[in-house]
Amino acid sequence: TAPAAVIVGIDGPSGTGKSSTSKAVAAKLGLRYLDTGAQYRAITWWMLNNGIDVRDAAAVADAAGKPSLVSGTDPAAPTITVDGQDAAGPIRTQEVTAAVSAVSAVPEVRARLTELQRGIAADGPRGIVVEGRDIGTTVLPDADVKIFLTASAEARAARRSGELSGKDRADLAATQAALVKRDAADSGRKTSPLAKADDAVEVDTTELTLNQVIECVVTLIEEKRTA
Ligand code: DC
Repeated sequence: TAPAAVIVGIDGPSGTGKSSTSKAVAAKLGLRYLDTGAQYRAITWWMLNNGIDVRDAAAVADAAGKPSLVSGTDPAAPTITVDGQDAAGPIRTQEVTAAVSAVSAVPEVRARLTELQRGIAADGPRGIVVEGRDIGTTVLPDADVKIFLTASAEARAARRSGELSGKDRADLAATQAALVKRDAADSGRKTSPLAKADDAVEVDTTELTLNQVIECVVTLIEEKRTA
């Protein structure tokens, strides 16, 4: 049975199956879905398009409030627009991926997106699955269910490389190096780093299929709802 307005936070580094799991769980339980990484990517894409030097934290902070971001929360067809423009494709390029950690380390960017994310989570009668890096620790510390997904660096690189295509597809070693570097930046930043909340359930997905991870998370949510 679909939980009424359950709030679920799913955090973890890239390549753990976070997005696929979060979307599938939301769809199964009739919940909305929010990809906060897509929002960090979208603001980064806007900065790159508007000539902001992403290494200049002061310039990024100044511009943080400028773009208008809208996220569609249907798990079957999530959307993201920046100033009314569809950003779903361009936010997945390597150019954006390489710049996103610098932009997301800037406190003004985090403050703006955190507020946006809290508003979306609180909006509407249906609950939501929110995926990111700091959902359980910072964005939604009172979430009903908190999950922290992990996997070995090798497994994560293999999955990520399978998602990339064409010119964005580098060899496995390069993908793993880039991923480890981004995780280190995301975990090491001062403002709300990637971290497991004390009350989050950690699920190591290294040896699990996607369906097993989905089942595991659905069970955790249902247990929580009937507890
Ligand atoms: O999940 P993703 O790879 O699309 O996220 C892109 C980047 O956004 C990630 O490297 C760190 C940042 N991010 C963040 O700082 N906080 C979040 N809640 C989600 C993503």
